[in-house]
Amino acid sequence: MSTTLVGKRILLIIGGGIAAYKGLELIRRLRERGADVRAILTKAGEAFVTPLSVSALTGDKVYTDLFSLTDEAEMGHIEMSRDADLLVVAPATADLLAKMAQGLANDLASTTLLATDKRVLVAPAMNVRMWLHPATQRNIAQLRDEDGVLFVGPNDGEMACGEYGPGRLAEPLEIVAAIEKALAGPTFIPLPGSVRADTRLLPAKIGKDLPLAGKHVLVTAGPTHEPIDPVRYIANRSSGKQGYAIAAAALAAGARVTLVSGPVSLLPPPGVNLVPVETAREMLEAVRTAMPADIGIFAAAVADWRVADAGAQKIKKGAEGTPSFSLVENPDILATIAQDKARRPSLVVGFAAETEHVVEHAKAKLARKGCDLIVANDVSPESGVMGGDRNRVHLVSASGVETWPDMDKDAVARALVARFGEMANATA
Ligand SMILES: Cc1cc2nc3c(=O)[nH]c(=O)nc-3n(C[C@H](O)[C@H](O)[C@H](O)COP(=O)(O)O)c2cc1C
Repeated sequence: MSTTLVGKRILLIIGGGIAAYKGLELIRRLRERGADVRAILTKAGEAFVTPLSVSALTGDKVYTDLFSLTDEAEMGHIEMSRDADLLVVAPATADLLAKMAQGLANDLASTTLLATDKRVLVAPAMNVRMWLHPATQRNIAQLRDEDGVLFVGPNDGEMACGEYGPGRLAEPLEIVAAIEKALAGPTFIPLPGSVRADTRLLPAKIGKDLPLAGKHVLVTAGPTHEPIDPVRYIANRSSGKQGYAIAAAALAAGARVTLVSGPVSLLPPPGVNLVPVETAREMLEAVRTAMPADIGIFAAAVADWRVADAGAQKIKKGAEGTPSFSLVENPDILATIAQDKARRPSLVVGFAAETEHVVEHAKAKLARKGCDLIVANDVSPESGVMGGDRNRVHLVSASGVETWPDMDKDAVARALVARFGEMANATA
């Protein structure tokens, strides 16, 4: 038996349909595979299965009421919607699908579905006429094609009402297989537009049409810390904000994102695979491990040098006078990856932070490193870019130099990601 469900948290919403009893079997199948199942039963659902049966099978209380004082105090509906790895609606009634498509939130199930930041898998079940009704078909198209909701079933077959056709709930094991598949993909729902990457949430809509769907984007961000001894290090003023915003924008554009980050005080955008590192050498190692990638965006401010023979013990003040250090060059991560013939991403983007002659230095860097594009910016103290929220970038490539207006870093990130998408899709 597959182990992909071990420890996964499934929030199961059981709607008021004749197939609700199969929701009970689904709980059993999920639990025997090691999943944690929490259940919401709609009011109509309670007419078909009892809260007691559901609760006995989940081993947890069952949630039925949006306005329950005790439930809300113990586990608020927003928290419940975020606490899961996946929301599953089985059976999904015509009514629940309609509410989801409209964004209604007038009971616990629909409010939770609207409040969640996780993917939703629905297993519809209804009378064939209800399924084929244009209203239901419109709702399905909206949910599946626009909102990134996943579907399993319905199957064709004989209905409890004696009619025949599409509308039968998928079998519990089919639903289990669909859950496993859903959990193997991105779990966050992308939102249109971005929320600040360093404040928390980002993502919105997951759909096959997103510009970076199916692509692996590797982003480096932040400074590196190069040790002098176990308690001291050489650092730089990079905040990581621009790299984190790019990671968030790439995620919202449908990519799988690996973010290799030096030490920063930002929260990673939920849904990215964060690989924290400290030194330049660790960063190169993490980048190599994360490969292959379709797009490599090297936004980190990697220290050019490190202290040769960093002390194994704290260097003490004393008889030996003021210490002096010799520096050795760090590996050049951008050039290493851009010149790696076997594993080079099809698009390699470098960043150049300069305090003078920004464009000239960027042109030289483009030629030296072998990347496709340099995003250059002025980081002189008067620019306020280092650690600030705004950025003014120049795009330097073989086809020339483009200077963008001053924008906030999230807007720069979205515009850059849109451009990277065009470039990557042109070369694909
Ligand atoms: C006996 C009976 C069986 C029903 N079966 C279904 C069904 O299979 N699918 C469905 O969409 N609605 C079915 N309904 C209608 C729903 O129960 C009704 O639309 C309800 O409002 C759904 O509420 P809910 O979406 O909050 O669970 C059935 C109703 C009855 C009385």
